[in-house]
Amino acid sequence: MTSNTQWWQKGIIYQVYPRSYQDSNGDGIGDLPGITQRLDYIKSLNVEALWISPIYPSPMHDFGYDVADYVGIHPMFGTMADFDHLLGEAHARGLKVLLDLVPNHTSDEHAWFIESRRSRDNPKRDWYIWRDPAPDGGPPNNWLSFFGGPAWTFDEKTGQYYMHQFVKQQPELNYRNPAVMDALLGSMRFWLDKGVDGFRVDVLWLMLKDDQFRDNPPNPDWDGVVPIGSLLQTYTADVPGIHDIVRQMRQVLDSYEERMMVGEIYMEIEKLVTYYGEHLDECHLPFNFHLISSRWEAPIIRQLIETYEANLTGGRWPNWVLGNHDQHRVATRIGVHQARVANMMLLTLRGTPTCYYGDELGMEDVPIPLELLQDPAALNQPEIAHIVGRDPERTPMQWDDSPNAGFAAEGVQTWLPLAADYQTRNVAKQNADPTSMLNFYRVLTALRNAEPALHAGDYATVMTSHNDVLAYRRSAPDGNNFVIVLNFSDNDLTLDLSQVASTATIAVATDMERAGTVDLSQLALHGNEGLVLRL
Ligand code: NOJ
Repeated sequence: MTSNTQWWQKGIIYQVYPRSYQDSNGDGIGDLPGITQRLDYIKSLNVEALWISPIYPSPMHDFGYDVADYVGIHPMFGTMADFDHLLGEAHARGLKVLLDLVPNHTSDEHAWFIESRRSRDNPKRDWYIWRDPAPDGGPPNNWLSFFGGPAWTFDEKTGQYYMHQFVKQQPELNYRNPAVMDALLGSMRFWLDKGVDGFRVDVLWLMLKDDQFRDNPPNPDWDGVVPIGSLLQTYTADVPGIHDIVRQMRQVLDSYEERMMVGEIYMEIEKLVTYYGEHLDECHLPFNFHLISSRWEAPIIRQLIETYEANLTGGRWPNWVLGNHDQHRVATRIGVHQARVANMMLLTLRGTPTCYYGDELGMEDVPIPLELLQDPAALNQPEIAHIVGRDPERTPMQWDDSPNAGFAAEGVQTWLPLAADYQTRNVAKQNADPTSMLNFYRVLTALRNAEPALHAGDYATVMTSHNDVLAYRRSAPDGNNFVIVLNFSDNDLTLDLSQVASTATIAVATDMERAGTVDLSQLALHGNEGLVLRL
């Protein structure tokens, strides 16, 4: 199993949110030359690939997820030459580059939509989803936007509504029209021809909608808080026909060497895994976000891992995610004391890990005052901004303790405020401290890369008598085995793992000063402690 492991199976994916990584031109927004300057740092994390959130021309109503040209670069981020340079420099360091592909919708400033809204008989009219008003003049059905309000906006000039599940400046493309599919595949080829290694595909499971435009049914389990949750997404998500679209995308990737796609899909595991394709002919990886959505309790996470593993039949390769630009930071969600435990788990589970920039430092959410809010999800729903707002997890990378944290030059107004703790939590400081979160992260990633048991071996749960402990074994055919023991609680405890072996050697501990051999019949674990043990 180890000999034919592909790069996207063995390696770690690191997500760069380009607006917040490194500003090189003094506008307070990160850019491509900035990322290029930081490639040596990214390489030092022992990751395999960087995924860069959208860098295309965009009016930035949804910070780049409203694309005005699929085959261009936003001047705010640089030029196409800057991109080519970044790609060349990344490849020279052995790093792969994944772009964010946003096929479900464009910006309303995309040339296709400008055409489409010109008249009802415009050749591009049917490239988007247009419907007549309901008899009362209101929206054609009850579909909702994720960012509040209806999923429909009325166009005065042509007297119809167009559909959008995000902001109204993000009209959705009509993938029932083959010309739209051809255009998407053409955009993919443009970047693949340049040598891009693949794509993270935005809202892949939403790309097709019901052809009868039926109302979504009410959600009986709605918590009454976030409006989109009031309806089930029966007719707007995972709609029959979607797999055919994904297969066509995969065929384009397969016509090049060693390219991949990872699809953004928020669904229960049984449905999620259908996006590998019946013949492994769809997504290489459908993103598994269940570590984000599950309660942080050892028995729940154990059950999650086992359910996932049981569904990974027929060569489906696992993957795990702890954070991204849409989710509160892991250190904030589960508590800063659990951040090392969580990363130890991410980097020792079976399957490709994805790391969100800054999580390697333990960055936390930054509270954003109302007057500084940027995110449309928060601005459109201010009463629930603290729940749905995504600015807190998008703040500038903390490089050093200089003004603006080394993210931007002194005196520059950064697009989002810096974390209050940047002078103590930053790359420079953590580089210098052998026991820092950053060096802990590097030790783990180096071990994962070096050990077939960790990047390709089997997974088996190890049962313990403590409810707060998650333990599992990773084993490789070469006989090198590891047991990972994670204490999800604050409590010190002692475990009997003598059913596994009598002794083991600490390979990595969350407390980096802990080393040596341990007696597995009475293994002492501090609160919030994790150990990777070599058997
Ligand atoms: C998912 C992206 O991750 C998110 O940031 C964006 O707002 C929506 N899709 C719409 O593109």
